Amino acid sequence: MAGFRDQVIVITGASSGIGRALALQLAGQGTRLALAARRAGSLEAVAQECRQAGARAVAVPTDVSRQEQCRALVERTVSHYGRIDMLINDAGVSGPSLAFAEMKDLALLEESLRINCLGAAYCTYYALPYLKQSRGRIVGVSSLAGRSGIPNRSAYSASKHAMTGFFDSLRIELADTGVSVTMIYPDYVADKDAEVPRGTLTYDKAASMILAAAAARKRDLITSGRGKLAIWIKLFAPDVLDRFTRQAASKYE
Ligand SMILES: NC(=O)c1ccc[n+]([C@@H]2O[C@H](COP(=O)([O-])OP(=O)(O)OC[C@H]3O[C@@H](n4cnc5c(N)ncnc54)[C@H](OP(=O)(O)O)[C@@H]3O)[C@@H](O)[C@H]2O)c1
Repeated sequence: MAGFRDQVIVITGASSGIGRALALQLAGQGTRLALAARRAGSLEAVAQECRQAGARAVAVPTDVSRQEQCRALVERTVSHYGRIDMLINDAGVSGPSLAFAEMKDLALLEESLRINCLGAAYCTYYALPYLKQSRGRIVGVSSLAGRSGIPNRSAYSASKHAMTGFFDSLRIELADTGVSVTMIYPDYVADKDAEVPRGTLTYDKAASMILAAAAARKRDLITSGRGKLAIWIKLFAPDVLDRFTRQAASKYE
């Protein structure tokens, strides 16, 4: 895999989970990191771990649903390091499991779209001039829910589908610029000690798969065999996939 040594990398959602694992793996490669999320304390703790692993790392507390904070994240990164080579849009919320008809208002839908889709678009908008200069990389962490509907997750699924449409369009627009767009569609990912469905990836494993896909400038990555199968079934027999999804979702609710 091509390494990222000395590259300047912005990671949103770096205070926990997949984003933290990405930061720690990249730190081990001697990168220069700008880490973003809302919880300043957790974020600074991750930045500290990255510095101990040999990277330069700056924590930039950011709410990606606020456009001006995304602009400030990019400005801070560029004033600190002078360039941007990769933007990883990992920040996301999944919210509670709730049927659409049972929502007492539409706040969950609005919040999901604002954080998961608009947040990624804001960060990308401000970073794009610098990514064009470096012929860099954009990564969007979506979900299998960004390729197929999931019952009781309509807000999440809508926001992840919106990400897919946005980044698939952007990839075409950027075809002649040298900037790659890699979309990630993870199946379940969790801490290695969590009680989880069989086949769930650890944060570490997911992070190494994501970095390999980004290094190879892949178009997209679906992290599980059943995810790949689901996308094929959806093409030819979408009603069958709906039935499978309903059964699978009821097992994990
Ligand atoms: N885990 C899974 O099974 C799975 C499956 C498919 C896709 N994904 C996607 O993978 C990504 C990472 O998820 P995860 O599992 O690592 O969950 P996680 O541990 O909850 O991480 C989510 C990260 O996003 C940040 N975040 C949330 N809202 C934010 C906001 N408004 N502004 C800035 N940062 C924000 C959180 O930090 P703060 O709270 O500090 O802001 C946190 O660092 C998400 O986009 C998620 O949808 C996860």
